[in-house]
Amino acid sequence: VTRHQVLVASNRGPVSYTVGERGELTAKRGGGGLVSGLSTVKGDAVWVCAALGDGDREAVRRTDGRLDPADTGGQTVRMLDLAPEVFADAYNGIANSVLWFVHHMLYQTPLEPVFDTEFERQWRSYETYNAAFADALAEEAAEGAAVLVQDYHLTLVPGMLRERRPDLRIGHFSHTPWAPPDYFRMLPDDPDGGVAAEVLRGVLGADRAAFLTQRWANAFTECCVKLLGAEVSVDDDGEMVVVHEGRATRIGVHGLGADADFLRERSRRPDVDERMAALREQIGRDGDGNARKAIVRVDRTELSKNIVRGLLAYRRLLDDHPEWHGRVVHVAFAYPSRQDLAVYRDYTAEVSRVAEEINAVYGTEDWTPVVLHVKDDFARSLAAYRLADVALVNPIRDGMNLVAKEIPVVSDHGCALVLSREAGAFAELAEDAITVNPYDIGATADALHRALSMDAGERAERTKRLAAAATALPPTAWFTDQLNALRR
Ligand code: G6P
Repeated sequence: VTRHQVLVASNRGPVSYTVGERGELTAKRGGGGLVSGLSTVKGDAVWVCAALGDGDREAVRRTDGRLDPADTGGQTVRMLDLAPEVFADAYNGIANSVLWFVHHMLYQTPLEPVFDTEFERQWRSYETYNAAFADALAEEAAEGAAVLVQDYHLTLVPGMLRERRPDLRIGHFSHTPWAPPDYFRMLPDDPDGGVAAEVLRGVLGADRAAFLTQRWANAFTECCVKLLGAEVSVDDDGEMVVVHEGRATRIGVHGLGADADFLRERSRRPDVDERMAALREQIGRDGDGNARKAIVRVDRTELSKNIVRGLLAYRRLLDDHPEWHGRVVHVAFAYPSRQDLAVYRDYTAEVSRVAEEINAVYGTEDWTPVVLHVKDDFARSLAAYRLADVALVNPIRDGMNLVAKEIPVVSDHGCALVLSREAGAFAELAEDAITVNPYDIGATADALHRALSMDAGERAERTKRLAAAATALPPTAWFTDQLNALRR
């Protein structure tokens, strides 16, 4: 076994597989900010990830878990095949239903967490799943190697790995927000003296824990102080340090940016041009024969993305401003996500229902106010980025939100950005966006009106500045900065 100097670990790897009718395996690149950030990690590094479904399990069987580099774009990937029940408990149960909801503060009456007998079993599975990653990493790592552990799926790995391999430099990176202590402590007090404490101690097993914005880093350190009794100081480099039980963990902030080179090249290919033509057709022309304005959103269908309130804000815009009737279309791409969970399925259905309702109330023979697409198509997303007049990014809470950063980079003629103050990207883009409180439907409708009314010159100027801010830390720099900081 070749041992590696750089290791990355995350639940989702760069690709996942589907099995075709004749048993052939097809690899498809995964979605989401985490995969975008890590897709540039090359060289000697190994990426350890989990098999997510049957196709992945089959790929693991055929390759002994070491995926064919032809499928991964040259990345060295080791995929772990955990027992399906353990994976389901850890991923759907703890990671996606509990930790995701807590960090995004999505539990608000009447949607409440259920901490019942199932929880303890799921939590044990989460521990087993984390231990499997720690074992694999311990096996793959060369002496003194740097290991970068990603996200809320793997919070226990740093602590577990340190026990197995004290020689390693271990980092943890959170791609989500971190919940403040008053909210985070809703996690159950059992088993083992508290889940909140166990998660915090797990992450503090790292030499360095990093976040997308200062806001999430502060929430984490506040949790360590209030819930663990840890102490916080500032080191010579100005980074916060959390000291708990005699060990120090440095706290870093790395605001992942958009990959301008990749996006600009990819968005100019013929398949994107084709989709632009098709979209223009769907958007249509107003009564004077002018192209209608397009309000674009592109999200995974995810409660934190606040798609339904976005639609309701658009509806309010049409209620309050009849002058926009027939002159604007809301192009909403809501791609399926985590469909194993009932709340996600229900939310997906609600998005379609509200979109149809708006079309039923306002639509005319030659004007469809909402064009909703639910089938994932990256080329079409880029096409929509290029032609958008307004981008709507209104999450309830979001670690960063790369869509807000990608649109200004790709935009053909400038795009006004309506941006939630609860997205991590707000910290970097607020100045040139029209910012909103994501819960406030009326204010979001007003923001859409302002964005649609912005003159072309101002729009282009703002887009240029947004693109500069959005690409300040491209994925390669985001990764090497973390590696360098970890080795310091
Ligand atoms: C987004 C989030 C990441 C998370 C990922 C998981 O990319 O930004 O924090 O790891 O979703 O999504 P998945 O589809 O793998 O559940």
